[in-house]
Amino acid sequence: MLSNINPIHTDAWARLQSLSEKYKDLTISSLFSEKERFERYSLTLEDILVDYSKNRVNDEIFKALLDLARETKLHEAIEAMFSGEPINGTEGRAVLHTALRNRSNTPVYVDGEDVMPEVNRVLEKMKVFSNKVQKGQWLGYTGKPIKSLVNIGIGGSDLGPVMVTEALKPFQSKDLEIFFVSNVDGTHIAETLKKVDPETTLFFIASKTFTTQETMTNAHTARNWFLDHAKDEKAIAKHFVALSTNQKGVESFGIDPENMFEFWDWVGGRYSLWSAIGLPIACAIGFDNFEQLLAGGHAMDLHFRNSMFDRNIPVILALIGIWNTNFLGACSEAILPYNQYMHRFAAYFQQGNMESNGKYVSRTGEKVSYTTGPIIWGEPGTNGQHAFYQLIHQGTHLIPCDFIAPAISHNPIGDHHQKLLSNFFAQTEALMNGKTLEQVRKEMNQAGKSVEEIDRVAPHRVFEGNRPTNSILVKKITPYILGMLIAMYEHKIFVQGVIWNIFSFDQWGVELGKVLASSILPELQNDEEITSHDSSTNGLINAYKKMRRV
Ligand code: F6P
Repeated sequence: MLSNINPIHTDAWARLQSLSEKYKDLTISSLFSEKERFERYSLTLEDILVDYSKNRVNDEIFKALLDLARETKLHEAIEAMFSGEPINGTEGRAVLHTALRNRSNTPVYVDGEDVMPEVNRVLEKMKVFSNKVQKGQWLGYTGKPIKSLVNIGIGGSDLGPVMVTEALKPFQSKDLEIFFVSNVDGTHIAETLKKVDPETTLFFIASKTFTTQETMTNAHTARNWFLDHAKDEKAIAKHFVALSTNQKGVESFGIDPENMFEFWDWVGGRYSLWSAIGLPIACAIGFDNFEQLLAGGHAMDLHFRNSMFDRNIPVILALIGIWNTNFLGACSEAILPYNQYMHRFAAYFQQGNMESNGKYVSRTGEKVSYTTGPIIWGEPGTNGQHAFYQLIHQGTHLIPCDFIAPAISHNPIGDHHQKLLSNFFAQTEALMNGKTLEQVRKEMNQAGKSVEEIDRVAPHRVFEGNRPTNSILVKKITPYILGMLIAMYEHKIFVQGVIWNIFSFDQWGVELGKVLASSILPELQNDEEITSHDSSTNGLINAYKKMRRV
């Protein structure tokens, strides 16, 4: 079980508080007077280099952060997670996405039973199935091979497969196209169905619970559309597979249990891309590549579980995040991949992080008195530079950023990649160093500007700098490296949740809106005036009813 330690009652927290006072004027650039700063504040793991030197963290602060991890019993928490203890306290569940990628195949016990044989059985089934799809041997109801894969799911049953298939597009089979339908807005499924042919389309109905309104609605629409063409319920078996923990739900939808790929309640939705939810990934990029993804995740797991905290990448990233959030007052973090294929990476970790650590109740059930999970956002560089970097450089909010880039591009055209990377290197340098008023005045003077113009414009061209960043440089975006990166962030989130004394693996905050929507739905199915809510909600519903009459 996880301990219940209020982090602000630890000695380390008090020390960090006083260090934040003591070093309130500390500049990142001044830390570089130490020649070895980069060597001491960066880590390499296989083909990943994580440079965390451009943070407002010196040795004293770093030591206190490590003490915070120890005082909040992080080591015990890591062991509890990997060994299958029910650390998802409010649901009484183990948290074992690490078992799904446990390539060492060592036993992992839940309630005294080793889960690895079941994990391996489903993986084998995924292998056989995805190989058939990839080789054109899985045939549709008219005997044609599958050409289009349509994943219907939402949240963790969508974002992981979308993010990974986009990030690994260079590994995708040329004969298959993949689509994702998540939104209950009928437009999403309608526009997708326009692009596919029922004879050559395979639908993956991806839902851990198999009850999610959006997914079930889209799945039924897809099923009706398919039957309108195939006119034979038996044909469903060739075109619909289910990825779920809910066998009854799958059967009552009409999917053959043979076509069900299971996972288990100890896999959280937002941690499920490693499970059967990854089947569309395996079909798109091939099972060998999917295994490489798992292997990368496993390599990061071993590093995380076995490394000392001061050499442990996820732990260090988490501790720096805590310093920025709880002691420097940052409330958001940007994830900025300098890689177009990773354009959904920030969106993926928006759910990963915000659904995990967006909690104000501690593990003891009390309201916390400190900040927890940050707002996660981001877009690929260099697009972001021409959109929101203005605020990162000169706004009033402190936005710590993670810059991620591959050294080798999948598309080495001309000097594109060097230009991209010159921006990647330049941004963190600019965010750290900024530009002083003197520098700006000198430059403007040299450019022949008048004193009047210099006085008027120069203050606007000053950059305070001292904006914290991490740079994550990888060799190339391969399935293995992507697996490492995903697991790195997963564990960072876990570490922060442990220290903040919250439960990171439930998501009660999504329930209220769902329940209210289901009580409003019947009210929309007639033309009666609604009076059961507050006057705003009544007014809106009644206005909608009036508008739709036309
Ligand atoms: O949004 C809440 C949530 O439960 C997520 O945690 C989950 O990833 C998503 O809905 C989808 O759930 P399911 O896979 O059960 O359809």
